[in-house]
Amino acid sequence: MGIENRVAVITGATGGLGRVVARRFAEHGARLALFGTNAGRLAQLAGELSLPEERRLTHVVNLQEREAVQAAAAAVLAKFGRAEILLHLVGGWIGGKPVADVSADEVSEMLDQHLWTTFNVAQAFLPHLRANGWGRLVAISSPHASRPPANAAPYAIGKAAQEALISTLAQEAQDRGVTANLLLVRTIDVQRDRDRERTPKNASWTTPEEIAAAILYLCSDEARAVNGARIPLYGGP
Ligand SMILES: NC(=O)c1ccc[n+]([C@@H]2O[C@H](COP(=O)([O-])OP(=O)(O)OC[C@H]3O[C@@H](n4cnc5c(N)ncnc54)[C@H](OP(=O)(O)O)[C@@H]3O)[C@@H](O)[C@H]2O)c1
Repeated sequence: MGIENRVAVITGATGGLGRVVARRFAEHGARLALFGTNAGRLAQLAGELSLPEERRLTHVVNLQEREAVQAAAAAVLAKFGRAEILLHLVGGWIGGKPVADVSADEVSEMLDQHLWTTFNVAQAFLPHLRANGWGRLVAISSPHASRPPANAAPYAIGKAAQEALISTLAQEAQDRGVTANLLLVRTIDVQRDRDRERTPKNASWTTPEEIAAAILYLCSDEARAVNGARIPLYGGP
């Protein structure tokens, strides 16, 4: 079975990847709960998707705020009666200097954005996924989480913590028909630079459409046995 009529929560829905994933999920007949921090951008996205009212919900929320995330989950349940798919696409990057020059605030900011938003949405939504006896959680990470390069400590630390959390959730949720998986990308090629002018650097970039296709597979019934995976989408080692 595909994702038609599944209730999918997309965080970071107005981001570079989120917009494309929202469009693909809308095309495949899902019911969408779109989360972002800006009402105007969310309204614009909802307009572009031209979904009927009964198939969409937009919700402004700072996912770093635990109680606000619980309220967002309540809004999804009130509207759709269930939540089945959680696509956590919140992002941000801090780096560019050696550890010696990194501030504690910069590390905290990346932990807030990558770890604590994931923790908050997992605690708010996983009980509902488990209650269905069917659920899918997908997040996007980076090879830098397990092989950090120089000068990227805040981001690498944030992503490594997020990966540890998702891998733990995969072990805990498996018995209830719920899977949790990570897709790894180096750079999301929103502008499709790779297709216009191929360089050694951009050859390993991944388009939002390629990522969306992998997410659609992970959210299918056929991917039931794929759980706790870290799947690289950059075409090389
Ligand atoms: N871009 C890359 O090259 C790359 C590489 C590896 C992995 N990734 C991962 O891929 C995913 C998608 O990346 P992207 O490039 O699409 O990101 P993006 O364009 O920067 O969008 C990130 C989204 O996260 C939302 N967001 C940030 N903090 C939030 C918070 N506290 N509460 C609620 N929403 C928040 C933003 O909402 P607003 O728009 O409302 O501000 C934005 O829509 C992320 O998990 C990212 O870490 C990206």
